Amino acid sequence: MTEPVKFAYWVPNVSGGLVISNIEQRTSWTPEYNRKLAQIAEQAGFDYALSQIRFTAGYGADNQHESVSFSQDLLAHTEKLNVIAALLPGPWNPALAAKQIATISHLSGGRIAVNVVSGWFRGEFAAIGEHWLDHDERYRRSEEFIRALRGIWTEDSFTFRGDFYRFSDYSLKPKPLDPLPEIFQGGSSRAARDMAARVSDWYFTNGNTPEGLTAQVEDIRAKAAANGHKVKVGINAFAIARDTEAEAKAVLDEIIGKANPDAVQGFAHEVKNAGKASPEGEGNWAKSSFEDLVQYNDGFRSNLIGTPQQIAERIIGLKDAGADLILLGFLHFQEEVEYFGKHVLPLVRQLEAERAREAVAAE
Ligand SMILES: Cc1cc2nc3c(=O)[nH]c(=O)nc-3n(C[C@H](O)[C@H](O)[C@H](O)COP(=O)(O)O)c2cc1C
Repeated sequence: MTEPVKFAYWVPNVSGGLVISNIEQRTSWTPEYNRKLAQIAEQAGFDYALSQIRFTAGYGADNQHESVSFSQDLLAHTEKLNVIAALLPGPWNPALAAKQIATISHLSGGRIAVNVVSGWFRGEFAAIGEHWLDHDERYRRSEEFIRALRGIWTEDSFTFRGDFYRFSDYSLKPKPLDPLPEIFQGGSSRAARDMAARVSDWYFTNGNTPEGLTAQVEDIRAKAAANGHKVKVGINAFAIARDTEAEAKAVLDEIIGKANPDAVQGFAHEVKNAGKASPEGEGNWAKSSFEDLVQYNDGFRSNLIGTPQQIAERIIGLKDAGADLILLGFLHFQEEVEYFGKHVLPLVRQLEAERAREAVAAE
């Protein structure tokens, strides 16, 4: 029997919401708004919240709270929710990150996880005086970062000789609670997939169709199996669930109609350093249209836009294509996370139960 699909939401710890549009967004980046949102989300049945790391942003996200400290605050205000904090190798080194996250693991009863991101925004690195590495070098560094994190968390007298990081006989105490914080990773290029197939617990990818997702999952699972590694997959989606399909589509049209063209173009200009810059020219944003980029992780492409029934069926379609987790963004987070928990999630569970019964009957 397959596991129930898991749900995560994007923490709006960055201003401007999840779409680059002048449409009204009843979403706020403040701590107060986010604490309440996290409580609504855990009540609604969400498993994870994913916070973002940005040092600067040129696409309407003028204010950005730091990810690890913000995640810790959300953990302090919730009971069940797991919170994924983003770590960017470069600004973070693995010694500090391992220690920070180990302490938060103890503070939160083991509910902290990490998302090791690899950097796509050259201007941000320039602004904070960090060296900018070529695309695949960034992933080589991220892989060492993950190997170091895991080594520090699991071994005493940890010794590591990498090109980017070095450890000598290091014993972190205390180690994080068991089970270890899960290690997520974002990105879709070949380097991102290969890294996931070697070291990550979870691979996050931008919004996509079930067919687009299947191609990535097949590649990643085959490579992971060859490495004796197991990796789970999360896909991004921007959900617009309304009582009728016409209402949901009208909201999408309004988001795109009121998109801020300069900010979207600016973002398009920046992301050319990501997947498209990888040697094979694949990866995040390599094929994104203007409309796709209005949701800055291609979330419309996953097409979770319609009635609760349509969305639930499409979630099952993504699950069939290999998704273990659906990462969701919303226009009006608090209201829509609640609506999603009430109207969509039960339908997903119902469809999963029907599937399980059919599978038993077929045996
Ligand atoms: C779900 C998800 C979350 C991400 N979160 C962040 C983030 O908080 N900060 C950041 O700088 N990059 C973030 N990234 C960007 C990735 O780390 C990576 O740089 C980008 O997806 C380009 O990857 P690619 O070139 O392998 O396609 C995220 C990516 C995904 C898919």
